Amino acid sequence: MKSNDHRKVMIEFQALEKTFRTSKGEVHAIEDLNIKIFDKEFVSVVGPSGCGKTTLLKITSGLLPRTAGGVAVNGSPVDGPAKQIGMVFQNPVLLKWRTVLDNILLPIEILKLPRRSYQEKAMELIKLVDLIGFENFLPSELSGGMQQRVSLCRALITDPPILLMDEPFGSLDALTRDDMNLELQRIWETKKKTVLFITHSIPEAVFLSDRVVVLSPRPSKVVLTVDVNFKRPREPSDKYEKEFGRLCTLLRSAIKK
Ligand SMILES: Nc1ncnc2c1ncn2[C@@H]1O[C@H](COP(=O)(O)OP(=O)(O)O)[C@@H](O)[C@H]1O
Ligand SMILES: [Mg+2]
Repeated sequence: MKSNDHRKVMIEFQALEKTFRTSKGEVHAIEDLNIKIFDKEFVSVVGPSGCGKTTLLKITSGLLPRTAGGVAVNGSPVDGPAKQIGMVFQNPVLLKWRTVLDNILLPIEILKLPRRSYQEKAMELIKLVDLIGFENFLPSELSGGMQQRVSLCRALITDPPILLMDEPFGSLDALTRDDMNLELQRIWETKKKTVLFITHSIPEAVFLSDRVVVLSPRPSKVVLTVDVNFKRPREPSDKYEKEFGRLCTLLRSAIKK
């Protein structure tokens, strides 16, 4: 980072370390991880399977304790589930007996906020992700892509400044995934969130991000950070640009299996 960089830091990992103690011994998942993510920045993390990406998101959201080092969100150390964070998982994890609207309003109930004052907000989000007319459908009546859009609305209902996304489109077919990337870009531009995005797909990371961070195999640390300077909003045809290909090749060669 440049010393004249005065942007607000929204997420900071400082010498972060995580070791799991299991019945079969210790698993050293994360070692000496240092990353700063700035306000309204879109940062993707890529790395080999099992290197600790999900662990990193869980530590950030306060769902898992760290072993050593520091994690701060919006200037405060993380010491439990954080309200300023919306989380989207690889699977939509919707409650199957609740309608689309009721799934989106679940965090409001859990936080004991007045449901009626969030109903309009929920409808705005439903419109934003193009699900108008489906608010009373059950999850089983929706496609995978639609379910993932519902889980995105659920993450956005409390309007958290930070979104953590763990391979959210990994289980979708390629065409739906491209649509979701455009949709996410549009939402990110409308809502101006800080996003930490985990993905297996290097083109997806390059397409969406301001910066892509490559992690080493376990125990993970940062091996490469790449700035993506394509103009926004990005278009699907950007993927055929020479520079896009160059960045993908650079990132691919940095990922060690
Ligand atoms: N709750 C846990 N207990 C013990 N080991 C775990 C636990 N969660 C993850 N691990 C281990 O930590 C490592 C990183 O896991 P994970 O963060 O899920 O990787 P990734 O998301 O990058 O594929 C793996 O070796 C995994 O087996
Ligand atoms: Mg994972």
